Amino acid sequence: MKVVAFSSQKGGSGKTTLAGHIAVQAERCGAGPVAIVDTDPQGSLTDWWNERQSGEPAFLQARIDTLADDIARARKLGFQLVIVDTPPAITRTIEQVVALTDLVLIPTRPSPHDLRAVGSTIELIESMDKSLVFVVNGAKSRARITGEAAVVLSQHGTVAPVTIHNRTDFASSMIDGRTVMELPNADKSAEEIAQLWGYIDGRLSGNARSTMMSSGFNKLSGSGQRQQSASGEPANQEMRWSRAL
Ligand SMILES: Nc1ncnc2c1ncn2[C@@H]1O[C@H](COP(=O)(O)OP(=O)(O)O)[C@@H](O)[C@H]1O
Ligand SMILES: [Mg+2]
Repeated sequence: MKVVAFSSQKGGSGKTTLAGHIAVQAERCGAGPVAIVDTDPQGSLTDWWNERQSGEPAFLQARIDTLADDIARARKLGFQLVIVDTPPAITRTIEQVVALTDLVLIPTRPSPHDLRAVGSTIELIESMDKSLVFVVNGAKSRARITGEAAVVLSQHGTVAPVTIHNRTDFASSMIDGRTVMELPNADKSAEEIAQLWGYIDGRLSGNARSTMMSSGFNKLSGSGQRQQSASGEPANQEMRWSRAL
């Protein structure tokens, strides 16, 4: 089982958007079962999952102070991939999450503010000897700063060879718990996510080259359970799974 976290000190960079999309895409490509964990008190990924009709990916009700045990249980239960969303701050939460991950993805918008903010995120991840990959997100087509951002980021670490562009379908699809892959007429966005997952998958399996896989996606019915983010109250809630395995 692999654990991937989306992290960056900057709010609005696309952590939650990409965490949800990559979780769904991995499941669609047969890399599941996939579980998501939301460690952001704002609970955006949780809200998205609660709106979702499909039971995949599964929602792992975890607590930040027992995260290591929760993730160990996910492994025992047969999950193949855990995707963790994190709050936009350098906090103890991030450290605890990063310590448990195989790969940290850092979505970064191609803007001077975002580029300036990546420093502290990188320091933390590197101090823990973890692999990180930048993902340029929210790029405007043909904007020169996109290429410039990739150059700046590449001086600090690996940049995913896929740029996620700014498209309203990324935002609109998540309103009712979906992703661009589940929308009609969002082919370009869906293709970017497919390529990004292909790259991540390659990194996780130790291949330099990405392995693109595709498989059908059957909608399962949701469990109907409302879920809370890992940092949400009540703190003593037991870990629950969205569906029986
Ligand atoms: N590639 C994109 N194109 C268009 N809107 C995006 C894109 N990525 C994220 N967004 C939107 O930007 C906002 C912030 O994204 P979000 O994933 O919540 O960031 P974070 O979790 O890092 O704070 C959300 O409204 C989201 O829908
Ligand atoms: Mg978020």
